[in-house]
Amino acid sequence: MTTRTPERRQLTVMFCDMVDSTALSLRLDPEELADVIQAYRRHCTDIVNRHGGVVARHVGDAILAHFGYPRAHENDAERSIRAALDIVASKWPTPATASLKVHIGIATGLVVVGRLPDGGEDLSAIGSALNLAARLQTLAGPDKVLVCEQTHRLAGGLFHYQDLGTQALKGFERPTPAFEVLRERKVGSRFHALRPPVLTPLVNRTSELEELRRLWESVKAGEGRAILITSEPGVGKSRLTEVLAERIVEPDCIRIWYHCSPNSQSTPLAPVIQQFAIAAGFAEQDDDATKLRKLEELVPKEAPDAAEIFSVLAHLLSLRSEDRFSPLNMSPQRQRQRLFHVLLQSLAAFAARGPLLLVIEDLHWIDPTSDELIGVLIDRLSRLPILVALTARPEFEAHWDDKGRLSHMTLPPLERQDAITLVELLCGERRIPQATIAQIADKTDGMPLFIEDLTEEVLESVAQRGAESGAAARGEASFPIPTTLSASLMSRLDRLGSARKVAEIGAAIGREFSYDLLARVADLPEELLRDELYRLVHAGLLVSGRSTAILSYAFKHALVRDAAYSSLLKKNQVALHAHIAQVLIDQFPETAESEPETLAYHFQAANDLDNAADYLVRAAKVSARRSGFVEAIVQLERALTLLGNQAKSPERIRRELNAYRTLGGIYAEHKGFSSADCGRAYTKALELCRELPDAPEIFAVLSGLGAFEITRASFDRCQALAEECLTRAAAQTSKPPFVMGHLLLGGTHFLKGELAAARTHLEEALLIYDEDRAPRRGKQVLYTQDQKSTGLAYLAITLTLMGELEQGREAGESGLAHSRSLGGLHTVNYSLCYLAAAHYIGRDTRSALTYATQSLESAREQGFATWIGISQIVRGASLVHEGRIDEGLRELERGRIAHASMEAAAYEPFAQALLAEGLIAADRLDEAHDTLVRALAIVETTGERFYSAELLRLQSEIAIKYHDRSNAEQCLRQSIEIARGQQAKLLELRSSASLRQLNDVAAPK
Ligand SMILES: Nc1ncnc2c1ncn2[C@@H]1O[C@H](COP(=O)(O)OP(=O)(O)O)[C@@H](O)[C@H]1O
Ligand SMILES: [Mg+2]
Repeated sequence: MTTRTPERRQLTVMFCDMVDSTALSLRLDPEELADVIQAYRRHCTDIVNRHGGVVARHVGDAILAHFGYPRAHENDAERSIRAALDIVASKWPTPATASLKVHIGIATGLVVVGRLPDGGEDLSAIGSALNLAARLQTLAGPDKVLVCEQTHRLAGGLFHYQDLGTQALKGFERPTPAFEVLRERKVGSRFHALRPPVLTPLVNRTSELEELRRLWESVKAGEGRAILITSEPGVGKSRLTEVLAERIVEPDCIRIWYHCSPNSQSTPLAPVIQQFAIAAGFAEQDDDATKLRKLEELVPKEAPDAAEIFSVLAHLLSLRSEDRFSPLNMSPQRQRQRLFHVLLQSLAAFAARGPLLLVIEDLHWIDPTSDELIGVLIDRLSRLPILVALTARPEFEAHWDDKGRLSHMTLPPLERQDAITLVELLCGERRIPQATIAQIADKTDGMPLFIEDLTEEVLESVAQRGAESGAAARGEASFPIPTTLSASLMSRLDRLGSARKVAEIGAAIGREFSYDLLARVADLPEELLRDELYRLVHAGLLVSGRSTAILSYAFKHALVRDAAYSSLLKKNQVALHAHIAQVLIDQFPETAESEPETLAYHFQAANDLDNAADYLVRAAKVSARRSGFVEAIVQLERALTLLGNQAKSPERIRRELNAYRTLGGIYAEHKGFSSADCGRAYTKALELCRELPDAPEIFAVLSGLGAFEITRASFDRCQALAEECLTRAAAQTSKPPFVMGHLLLGGTHFLKGELAAARTHLEEALLIYDEDRAPRRGKQVLYTQDQKSTGLAYLAITLTLMGELEQGREAGESGLAHSRSLGGLHTVNYSLCYLAAAHYIGRDTRSALTYATQSLESAREQGFATWIGISQIVRGASLVHEGRIDEGLRELERGRIAHASMEAAAYEPFAQALLAEGLIAADRLDEAHDTLVRALAIVETTGERFYSAELLRLQSEIAIKYHDRSNAEQCLRQSIEIARGQQAKLLELRSSASLRQLNDVAAPK
């Protein structure tokens, strides 16, 4: 037995107890009784072992056997039932036990198994399957075998059962289904016995069917052919032969099926015998005479030596009849020759009636004699119109001398799209989310068997937990391993012996892992590790690959990875993940840096939620740097959820603050500072700042929230935040907080049209700004705009409005140059956009057009929503000025819509003014008038007055076109007055010029 450490796995357990052992103990002398019990135990143990199980424990005269540990087989449930039926049917060895009867209970379920601490010598398994098997055993009548629902499901149609309905079992809350096994079923096909009766429509396989069709055509033309179809289990070999038989072979043709099976590999010609028994229609209760009669009907009458065929077959099927024919009197070699001859004769006789399909399934389980028979058959094919379709797993190697009659087909897994189609077909009316379908496709690697079982499992869990609450319904990634696949997946791992440990470590790292990381985590001698990996690759569990210098491995099937992983005890999983995270941090700092999400994953799995949250925040930043904003937001929300489950502490607040602040920045970049989400995140961050005695983050948060308020045109609030910023900044030495405060104030004053004050703060900000501390190319945190670039952008417009056109242009240009030197695309875009606006205001509309176009292109390319609408507006208005009125208006209209979607209130009057200019140029005066009225109303509510003088001047233009001279004059006078109050020299001059012109025109010559 093994000394493996405990693990989780699916196990089938069998309890077998003697009936009425008390009576026996009263009847016998103790010594005699001991002999009987010994003999009984030895006998049961033999049978259990023969079927691949182990006896784990004796409890009095009960025997507890495990099927599926220490080594799993893909058909453990079936094996346990066969063992049970054999025990029931067996002849007991000693006379004292001759009339002995037993009760047997079998159950399958998830257990923890292995040598448990303090478990003594016994192999212990812990799990409800043990209790269930024990209860079923007490319920079973003498020599009856009861199985649970799970075992019943796994062994499928291989046996006849009586459904006992649900039973109230002691200790089980709910009534539990139970089945009594009656006997083995004579099944033709394991495929049909084990798969659900309703097949899903076939997906794809067009080219394979095409090839089979071609072969069938040549068979019909008289030339026999054979084809060996190979694939891993579950890819669809059996299904393909089914389809061949149904769709390609004509209905009146004969089809014969031979099935090899795992439990008759050492029975000569087992598939042939079984086929005759089925074809002849033998029933359980038939005596030999009846069976012979049935067999006789099966023998083709037209065969030249029908009588001999009949007697050889009767012998093969062990049917005796003195009066019909004498027993064969030949040497075994001779007998075999005759047998082969007869079998081929009978096939030939059938083939003489017309082309024939012979399917031989699962050759990897074939017995040597049948194997030889197939060799002979293939050798004779040239004269027989037979298509022999053979199926096998990859480990089977054909070794017949086939003379070119045998072709090979390797059946590939389904392509992803076909896999998705299959999942959808399986779901039918039952809906699961698209994301879950995609995950099933990811997990199952195009293996139809995996797809069917996993989809079924997911559908069941959705049905059980209610459509909306299940993990599957929410599209979460963790699926249980389907019960039906568990044994076959575990059997692959168990064959690996010590290499399994390596597979488990690999599985904890992930579906893919590098050799280097595995080596550091596993800490095994290099030679041994390479050896184990070689075995894993050779066994088809891993594939290895080399990208550049890195040797890496991947589990060929995601489900194999899952099986290896889930066999680890939970606490071992936790320890392993903690170890992996530590190794990554200590020895792979670059990976830790560039793939923080990987670390977050391991920390979370190691229950180290603080570290997990920290690395999720880092991961979000990395995602955002790659413009994966949606991913970044999801990562931050996950971090916040993790933190939300922690006890409240300053540490937790600090972490939450970090997450919210990052979230605010990412929303700023993704949806603009003006987005409500951005405002919410920063507001939350500010609240958290205030819960801590001193949080250096507060400046960044105030700045972020300030930017939100300014874009919402909430100038008072922005001003209050800016002032808080400056007050707090006074208490410390670092410069950026000062710059921040001044910038926010400068921006607010500018928008309100308080240009001189704006200029003072902006110049102050630029003065304090520390060139050396500017984050350099590639290093800057994405979403914070550079302070100098921001200051120069505001200043460009402020100075232009103040009539200092040259200085304004210079400020804008040098701001752009500075942004470019830093390399942050968002900042560059920002500078471009402001520079375009400054040029437009200064009436250099050609330059405005150039920069606005660049700004728009960059915004589109990088997906910076903030800059799209406003760039289009400036671009459209510039086009209008350049005389391209229609084109300009169209662009203005598009820009207006894009800008409106930003939830931004700031710059709205400016945008409306530009739109109105376009409308005036197009002589759409009424619309222009309405636009201006709207703009002025906004000015009244928000107080954004820097462009008010221009709004009034535009109103005067409309009035002039309507020949309303006095209204025009009034507008202009008002405009001049406002501009003068704001020191907006440019606008003052512009309106004054208009007024002079108005007076000139009006003045009598
Ligand atoms: N192309 C396909 N379309 C739909 N279902 C398929 C397809 N191929 C296989 N299946 C289903 O997948 C399961 C496994 O296929 P099977 O033929 O038993 O595999 P194999 O014989 O290779 O082990 C079966 O239930 C089968 O009906
Ligand atoms: Mg098959």
